[in-house]
Amino acid sequence: MITALVSRKGGVGKTTTAVSLSAAFAARGRRTLLIDLDSQCSASLSLGVDRYALAPSSADLLLRDMSAPEVIRPTAVPGLDLITSSVDLLSADIELGLTTGLRRRLRSALEPVRNRYDQILLDCPPSLSVMPQTALVAADNFVVPIVPQYLAIEGLQNLLDAVDRLGDRFGFAPTPLGIVLTMVDYRTREMRQQVDLVRRIFGDMVFAVEVRVNVRLAEAPAAGQSIFDYDSGSTGARAYGLLAEEMLLRAGVFERTGVSDEPVEAGPREPRLP
Ligand SMILES: Nc1ncnc2c1ncn2[C@@H]1O[C@H](COP(=O)(O)OP(=O)(O)OP(=O)(O)O)[C@@H](O)[C@H]1O
Ligand SMILES: [Mg+2]
Repeated sequence: MITALVSRKGGVGKTTTAVSLSAAFAARGRRTLLIDLDSQCSASLSLGVDRYALAPSSADLLLRDMSAPEVIRPTAVPGLDLITSSVDLLSADIELGLTTGLRRRLRSALEPVRNRYDQILLDCPPSLSVMPQTALVAADNFVVPIVPQYLAIEGLQNLLDAVDRLGDRFGFAPTPLGIVLTMVDYRTREMRQQVDLVRRIFGDMVFAVEVRVNVRLAEAPAAGQSIFDYDSGSTGARAYGLLAEEMLLRAGVFERTGVSDEPVEAGPREPRLP
């Protein structure tokens, strides 16, 4: 399953979600590949890759015809592989944008390796420019993180519509797997109201699991560790572990039997393998 993390807004937790879910999937025994498609390289750096060791990267895959096996590297997390990003991706938006058909390039580049992985996650820059479009054309489904603040839902429907149109245009339509509420802070009444609003408008499309504000999630990238290695007992680690399971349920990977009665916000539970 190839899942893209997309949002037009910056700083809503796309990278944190991509990195944490990748580690959570790997911890559940799923062979996982994380692909960093943002020229800021946040996902790569968050997993401890040195700024000077980013090559070979997704830019080499997309712009220089290197093959996927040549750019995939292992990480410190067992079961999690990575394709880093590089600043060269800044020019990719221009180069890929000018050449017709290149939005399909990631999709075809992943063809030789997609069966090696149970889970491939794509971390995108904050826009719906050429790079996220390239990711969406390659993806089976997509997840939209939002911070439930004033105006948060502005543009959300817009994004969903834009992805639909993209599907029509390129013939590959990823399905929306869900909207995930991130950096939720119930100390503010405003946020509580926004959470209610998002849930009322988007209903079942919103994941039951919410990711609360958790300082450990903000600290982990500087340590170059996933939240599970940095602080496995943190609320952030618990939330992303549960979110990974809810995603697998939604995607039909886990059996619903015996799981559906439990509240998803409950404490940690044993991973269930398919
Ligand atoms: N649940 C959380 N609690 C506290 N801090 C968080 C949480 N989630 C993310 N952060 C922090 O918020 C900032 C933005 O998060 P992140 O980089 O994941 O967003 P993004 O959508 O990928 O941003 P960009 O659009 O720039 O790529 C980071 O400093 C991150 O560490
Ligand atoms: Mg990011």
